[in-house]
Amino acid sequence: VSSQKSGRGAFLLFEGVDRCGKTTQSQRLVEYLKGKGVAAELWRFPDRYTAIGRMIDSYLSGETEADDAAVHLLFSANRWEKREAMLAALHAGHTLVVDRYAYSGAAFTAAKKVPGLDLEWCKAPDKGLPAPDAVIYLSMSPEAAALRGGYGKERYEKEEMQKEVSRQFALLADDTWHTVDAAQSVKAVESQVQEIAEGAVASCSKGPPLRLLWT
Ligand code: TYD
Repeated sequence: VSSQKSGRGAFLLFEGVDRCGKTTQSQRLVEYLKGKGVAAELWRFPDRYTAIGRMIDSYLSGETEADDAAVHLLFSANRWEKREAMLAALHAGHTLVVDRYAYSGAAFTAAKKVPGLDLEWCKAPDKGLPAPDAVIYLSMSPEAAALRGGYGKERYEKEEMQKEVSRQFALLADDTWHTVDAAQSVKAVESQVQEIAEGAVASCSKGPPLRLLWT
């Protein structure tokens, strides 16, 4: 395990609507960083392999029904149960490239427009989690995303829902956000992503404290 005396890894987060290319870009970024000698790991949320993650997976596939508030808290709990491992990795100098996190959590539940579950309510359970150093928001219209071969069969993969999700994401943009036009070629997106990532990795190597989300 490479541990550094000072400095830490960067927490780089990809967010965006379904089919915007997050998974491809996050995988490519990890390979790129490793090639540059940066210890980089790919993480994703939901993590479907924990006990909580299996409940989420069953809900997303339509196998089980559940109360919207309860499901929201499961997604959040699925991040909290990974908190210590994330902190340990970052402090050991590992850069984490994360595919979805609390911004998806808030945007997807708020997009359901359930009375009482407004954006502030949705953000509350994730307050205090480790905050990303950079959010790479792959921006793409839901219409363009749908043209990329259509949505899958999971619960939220419908154009109307995705439109509302992108409206909610816009309300969540903060000073860590970098918006990248995901309708460009894979290569063009990739090079913008690399520039953002390298900047964040360089500044985190100086050891700034990790921030806490939404506090
Ligand atoms: P994901 O596993 O990233 O699926 P995909 O590869 O198809 O994007 O996410 C599954 C779904 O869960 C996706 O529609 C977004 C949604 N989601 C939430 O509703 N809340 C959350 O907290 C997270 C992380 C994802």
